[in-house]
Amino acid sequence: MDKSELRKIVKKVKHDNQIFKQKSKLASLSNEIPPSLVGRSKQTKQLVRYLMSYEEGMVVPLVSVFGRSGSGKSSLVKFVCSNISDIEYCYVNFRKARTIFGCANLILGAMGHEPIQSAKGMNKVIDTIHDAIKHKMSESEKKLFVLILDEFDVIMYDRRGNPSDFVYKLIEMQSDLVEKNTPTSIITISNNVVGDYEFDDRVRSRIGSSEIFFTPFSKVEILDILEKRAEEAFEEKIDGRVLEDIADRCSDEHGDIRRAVELLRVSAELASIKKMPISERFVEIAAMRLEKDRLEETMETLSHKSKWVCFSLAALAFISGKEWHSTMHIFEYFRKMLPPGSTLISYRRVSDLLIDLQNTGVVSSSTTSEGRNGYSSKYRLNMNPETAGEMIHEDYWEIVKRQKEKQEVSKLFSKSDLKRAGLFNDVFFGK
Ligand SMILES: Nc1ncnc2c1ncn2[C@@H]1O[C@H](COP(=O)(O)OP(=O)(O)O)[C@@H](O)[C@H]1O
Ligand SMILES: [Mg+2]
Repeated sequence: MDKSELRKIVKKVKHDNQIFKQKSKLASLSNEIPPSLVGRSKQTKQLVRYLMSYEEGMVVPLVSVFGRSGSGKSSLVKFVCSNISDIEYCYVNFRKARTIFGCANLILGAMGHEPIQSAKGMNKVIDTIHDAIKHKMSESEKKLFVLILDEFDVIMYDRRGNPSDFVYKLIEMQSDLVEKNTPTSIITISNNVVGDYEFDDRVRSRIGSSEIFFTPFSKVEILDILEKRAEEAFEEKIDGRVLEDIADRCSDEHGDIRRAVELLRVSAELASIKKMPISERFVEIAAMRLEKDRLEETMETLSHKSKWVCFSLAALAFISGKEWHSTMHIFEYFRKMLPPGSTLISYRRVSDLLIDLQNTGVVSSSTTSEGRNGYSSKYRLNMNPETAGEMIHEDYWEIVKRQKEKQEVSKLFSKSDLKRAGLFNDVFFGK
């Protein structure tokens, strides 16, 4: 790499970006508060009602905003709090914290304070947050302080911390502030309703049931948002069919607006590299690419054995052309796939691993009645079997491909196949 080469690359990237007027409008993790919102009037009314009840002398301690990612929770909460003149707010996203103590320090940081060392204890942090809020409100004309805690679920992942205790201390702080004439409400934003998490009873009774559920966006709403975004982001008008296609794909799933915007951005990037207008073809390629990225992320989190159970299901689906396979079928394939001499894991264990895979969204299950024989579960891979197989083990997947060619569904890998692929027992059960 020399300077002239670098200049060429910069020139090319600049050229590729020409189709964008303001690419930042398509950034999926942008913190910008949208100037206006599409839909969501029900949730807006609920939130305003909860917040404004302080005027009647009834401060709601905690509002739990919940729903899937990309349903517009963060945007709406910020939009409401920043546009009501009586409200002063502090927005904190817990995403980057790894411990509950870290979350508490993020609040401090957002209030303009230095972090406090964990040796000083949680009480010290909470007291400092309390004082910062009190101080801020004593200097402000505003009447209600709102502490917004986004991605609140993070506190549940700290295995050594005590989420109940943290929430209890926050609520105590809130009621203390109210008593001292500093009306304060806390808004938590999470995937599940806060009441569903396992807090102890003293917390449960205090957090109440002020909940706001965000339904997934409908296709019409997604299309509406995309049209507005496209107008801001691109120099030229985007083909209506492209936006319609994206809205279709994203409302099929979970009404995830973030995914829709991401799909539009990646489609545009691909099209500009080819110096062509964005078309449905680019949307299709972009969708495949995003799915692959997402898959890679999920796969990285799976255990070694889970990956091979997943591989077995991928191979069965690929070879037979059928989507659904029973636990027994998957177990048998898994067992035959093992090189001689490997430690076998039990049917029960494979069945448990399939349930784990279902929880991560990699597979889906369906239970059917078998009459007198009770019930049986079948599983389906939620992704393209070839993509999954190749991602888990390219060489092994080659063997599966050859198997399919031979259509020898029952006769599995021969020893010479394994040797040729340079695979040994530890491929499956090492590490
Ligand atoms: N009602 C809405 N109207 C228009 N754009 C929206 C709306 N809700 C969210 N967005 C946009 O969609 C993106 C994702 O929304 P966000 O609020 O982060 O979702 P969530 O917090 O539920 O994951 C943001 O870029 C935001 O600007
Ligand atoms: Mg959010």
